[in-house]
Amino acid sequence: MLKSSQSFSLENNRTLLSLFNLLQGSPLTNYALREPRSVENDKAKPFLQWVGGKREMIPQYEKFLPKTFNKYFEPFLGGGAMFFHLEPTSAILGDSNLELIRAYEGVRDNPEQVIGLLKKLKAKHSKELYMKIRSIDRGLDILSKLTNIEVAARMIYLNQTCFNGVYRVNKAGQFNVPIGSSLNRLICDEDTIRSSSEVLKKATIKCLDFENLVTTAKKGDFAYIDPPYHPVSVYSDFTRYTKEKFYQEDQIRLKSTIDELSKKGIKVMLSNSDCHFISNLYSNYNRHKVYSGRSLNCKKDKRGKVIELLITNY
Ligand SMILES: C[S@@+](CC[C@H](N)C(=O)[O-])C[C@H]1O[C@@H](n2cnc3c(N)ncnc32)[C@H](O)[C@@H]1O
Repeated sequence: MLKSSQSFSLENNRTLLSLFNLLQGSPLTNYALREPRSVENDKAKPFLQWVGGKREMIPQYEKFLPKTFNKYFEPFLGGGAMFFHLEPTSAILGDSNLELIRAYEGVRDNPEQVIGLLKKLKAKHSKELYMKIRSIDRGLDILSKLTNIEVAARMIYLNQTCFNGVYRVNKAGQFNVPIGSSLNRLICDEDTIRSSSEVLKKATIKCLDFENLVTTAKKGDFAYIDPPYHPVSVYSDFTRYTKEKFYQEDQIRLKSTIDELSKKGIKVMLSNSDCHFISNLYSNYNRHKVYSGRSLNCKKDKRGKVIELLITNY
C-alpha cells in the first residue's frame, strides 16, 4: 500500500507536470536568450553526487592510469568522476539508468535551459516543493512525459537537496530519498553545469548494459570500469542504482567482457571491493590495493579506511 506522502492521482500528476511547465514558462525566463559563458579555463567536475562516486579516489588512481590512449570508454558512468577528470577528446559513455543518461543529454545539449529551471526551483525551494518534484515519478512515466531538460533539472534539484545527496530508487524505480536537513543548498552550480556540458559535447552517451557499450572498442583504447561493488558483507549491499540489481553472475559476465577486451588490446582499469571472490576472479590480472574514504563502521572511534581493489590488464 502507498504511504500518504506517496499517494497520487492522475489529476495530481497533471498538476505536477504543469508546475514544471509553470517554472519553465514564467516571465522570469530569460535563460534561452543568454549566451553561454566561455568555460575554457574551468576544470569540469561531476554535476551529480553518486553512490560509489570516484572523485575522492582519483589522486590514488592517477599513477595507474595509462599515459596515452585513443578512445575512452566508461560503461558504468554514474557521476562520471573519471570522465570529467580525464576530459578525453573522444569518449563512449554508458549506464543502464535511463533517467541518468537523459539528465546527461539535457546538460550536454541545453545547459542554459537546465540552469534556468534550476534557478526557479532554487527560488521556490521548500519541503513542499521537494515532495512535489520527488513524487512526479509516482503516477506516470516521467521518462516519456518530461523533456531531457526537465529530467536533468529534477535530478540535479533532488540530488542537491535530498538527504546525503544520494540517488536511490525503490523496486518500482521511484526516487525515495527524504529531504536533507538544510533548506540552504546551492542547487544551481552554473559553472559546473556549463563546463560539464562542454566536455560532454565530445562524448557519445548511451543507455546500455555494459557488455553492449564496449563492443566497438579497439586496440589502443582505454576502458575505466566501475561496476556496483561485490558486497563484502551483508551490511554493504548497495547495488541498486536502478530497479535492477547487480548480481554475482553479472560480476562473472563482466570478467568475461574484460577478458575479451584484453584479448583485443584494450587497456582496462577496474574498481571493485577487496574480497576473496573478486580477488580470485581476477587472479591473472594486476591487483592493486587502494584506500577509500568510506568506513564500514558507523561508530566514529571504530572507523578504519576500507581497502578496495584497482585491477588493471597492463
Ligand atoms: C559504482 S557506480 C559508478 C560510479 C561512477 N564511477 C562515479 O564516479 O560516479 C555504478 C553505476 O553502474 C550502473 N549500472 C548498474 N548495472 C549496470 C549494467 N548492467 N550496465 C551498465 N551500467 C550499470 C549504475 O546505474 C551506476 O550508475
